[in-house]
Amino acid sequence: MNPIAQELNSALEGTVVSQLLSEFGKRFYFPKGIVSQAGEAKQKAHKFNATVGMATIKGSPMYLESVRKQVPGLTPAQMFPYAPTPGVPELRKKWREEMDVKNPSLKGKLTSLPLVTSGLTHGISTVADMFLDPGDPIIIPDMFWGNYTLIFEGRNRASIVKFDFFNEEGRINLSALDRAITAVKGDKFAVILNFPNNPTGYSPSVKESEEIVSLLKTWADKGKKILAITDDAYFGLFYEDETLKESLFGTFADLHENILAVKVDGATKENFAWGFRLGFLTYASKGLNSGQLDALTKKTMGAIRASISNSSKMAQTLVLNSLPADTYWKEKEEGFEILKARYLKVKEVIASFGSDSPLKPLPFNSGYFMTFQYKGNSEKLRTHLLDAYGVGTISIQEKYLRIAFSSVELEDIEELYTIINKAAKEVL
Ligand SMILES: Cc1ncc(COP(=O)(O)O)c(C=O)c1O
Repeated sequence: MNPIAQELNSALEGTVVSQLLSEFGKRFYFPKGIVSQAGEAKQKAHKFNATVGMATIKGSPMYLESVRKQVPGLTPAQMFPYAPTPGVPELRKKWREEMDVKNPSLKGKLTSLPLVTSGLTHGISTVADMFLDPGDPIIIPDMFWGNYTLIFEGRNRASIVKFDFFNEEGRINLSALDRAITAVKGDKFAVILNFPNNPTGYSPSVKESEEIVSLLKTWADKGKKILAITDDAYFGLFYEDETLKESLFGTFADLHENILAVKVDGATKENFAWGFRLGFLTYASKGLNSGQLDALTKKTMGAIRASISNSSKMAQTLVLNSLPADTYWKEKEEGFEILKARYLKVKEVIASFGSDSPLKPLPFNSGYFMTFQYKGNSEKLRTHLLDAYGVGTISIQEKYLRIAFSSVELEDIEELYTIINKAAKEVL
């Protein structure tokens, strides 16, 4: 094994991390190669710096004017150079500060500095590389973002263990979660919780969130080592009063020595910047001090260096520069209000569906989506909606139909749902 990896592993010895790391995670380290030598040169090479593989002229990056003139608000240095592998330092710091504002329970708690990833997908897949060996169990609700299958099973050959998301009362099925954990063999497991959930649009109430926390704590008390991942892609889009308005990461962060909390979030949906490919990956655990968080961060930097090397400098600059803007929170609030109005309209229209409707909405209170359970075949319904009405929806497992009300204008929602209800009766 590489000596740097060995050094990082010994810093983590005896912690939950060393018990959870995959073979890949154990092997990984951030090399003292070009990137780190260039970093050193940046500090000390006062005469000539001939380290980085970029083309410069009079100390500035070379660029094509036809590209630069499209973004007049940025200097070439803010756009064209490579970003550091872990991300632009000021952005990492600012995003961490913002996390405290958004998650009051996190305030004052020790976490790693967020690592910048190329969107949340890359963050999740990096976590999977770091912690999941073939056959390792990862627990997810049976309603989940389809890409988890490709990442956890397809890439990492981990074993997805599903639990029924909802119970009879339309609440999170904690006994099913408990049963899934009970069925796990061995002394460790991963769990990924995505609230607001894709595809259902459900987030837990404060009470349900406390129950989830207490369930995981009970298992940690019994000695299970738990990788608790929160996928906070749609964070902030909570439309109802009773809903928890924070990420569970805030509580997981110092819940138990046997729990390693990982937060994956980003600008993608939260800041309406889907194509920027800007995500963040943050670690915390009651059992980790800052040196150990640093060792884990360095290992993860190796994984980032080996996959995408670093994320877009321009996207990081644009988001960083937007954070202190006077209007930043107001702009976000405006986006939220538009989506909330659509959500409320969806609720209103669905409430007017007659009892003869073959569509039953699954519980939803947040995010971009809602999902119907359909009495017939939802794939047939999807194609019928497309062919007969020119309406695009997503069918899941042939029994669910997901509607992204986030991408439909308020004034079109009534017509959209009326068509869906009509079509659902036609192909039953
Ligand atoms: C639950 C969930 N997680 C993660 C992602 C991926 O986000 P990104 O586009 O930043 O990779 C999505 C995107 O649809 C999602 O729905």
